[in-house]
Amino acid sequence: MARQPNATAIDIKTIDDIDRYINELFAPEDAALAATVKSIEAAGMPAIQVSAGQGKFLYLLARLTGARRILELGTLAGYSAIWMARALPDDGRLVTLEFKPEHAAVARKNLERAGLSAKVDVIVGPALESLAAMAHRHEPPFDLIFIDADKLNYPAYLDWSLQLARSGTLIAADNVVRAGAVLNPPAGDEAAIGARQFNAKLAADPRVEAVVLQQIGLKGHDGLALARVR
Ligand code: SAH
Ligand code: DHB
Ligand code: MG
Repeated sequence: MARQPNATAIDIKTIDDIDRYINELFAPEDAALAATVKSIEAAGMPAIQVSAGQGKFLYLLARLTGARRILELGTLAGYSAIWMARALPDDGRLVTLEFKPEHAAVARKNLERAGLSAKVDVIVGPALESLAAMAHRHEPPFDLIFIDADKLNYPAYLDWSLQLARSGTLIAADNVVRAGAVLNPPAGDEAAIGARQFNAKLAADPRVEAVVLQQIGLKGHDGLALARVR
C-alpha cells in the first residue's frame, strides 16, 4: 500500500505527548498501579512494564474474550498482571510466571496491595519449566495468554501456549517489532532475533490466525502480536 501523504513528519515529542494524553484520559493509574510503578524504581528493576494505555488494552482484551483464566509469561512487578486480573470475574484466575524470585516478591506485594492476591498465582522459575509442569498436570486451558518474558524463547513459548489453550484462546505477545530491529536483527540482539523467529513462526503456524500491531509511544517503537487459536 502506498504511504498516505499526511503520515509524514510526525515528531517524537508529539507522539509522546499524545501517548500521555491517551493514558491520562483512558487509563488513569489508581493508587495500586502508581505504587507498582514506584516499586519498580525503588527495587532497581528495569522499567519495562507495559504503558498504562497498553495495560488498559490488555484489560479490554480480557473483557472482550470473557476471560476466566489468564496466563502471563514475565511478571516483573505485576503491573500488567494487575490490569488483566481486574478484568476477571470473581472466580477468575491469573497465573503469572517469573524467573527472578526478587521480581516475584515485589509483584506479590503489589498484587496484595491491589487486593488481587486471591485471584493471582505468581509462579517462580524458568517459564519453560513452569509451562511443562502445567501441561504435564493437564491444567485447564487458558482463555487469554500474554507472552512478555525473555524474547529468545518466544518461539518455544508459542508452542507451550498452544498446549495450554483451547479453540478461541487469544494469545498476545509484547515487543515483536523492537524499533524496527526485527527487520534485520543485529548479531547479539536477542530480543530482535527472538521476535523475528516468533513472528515468522506465528505467521506460518496453521494452528493460529494472527497479526502484529505496530505501536509507538512512551515505550518507544515496538509491536504487539495477536493470535486466535483455531
Ligand atoms: N509483563 C510485565 C513486564 C515483564 S518484563 C509488565 O508489563 O508489567 C519481563 C520479565 O520476564 C522480567 O521480570 C524477567 O525477569 C522475566 N523473565 C526473563 N526470563 C524469564 C524466564 N526464562 N522465565 C520467566 N520469566 C522470565
Ligand atoms: C523491553 C521492553 C519490554 O516491554 C520488555 O518486555 C522487555 C524489554 C525493553 O525496552 O528493553
Ligand atoms: Mg514487554
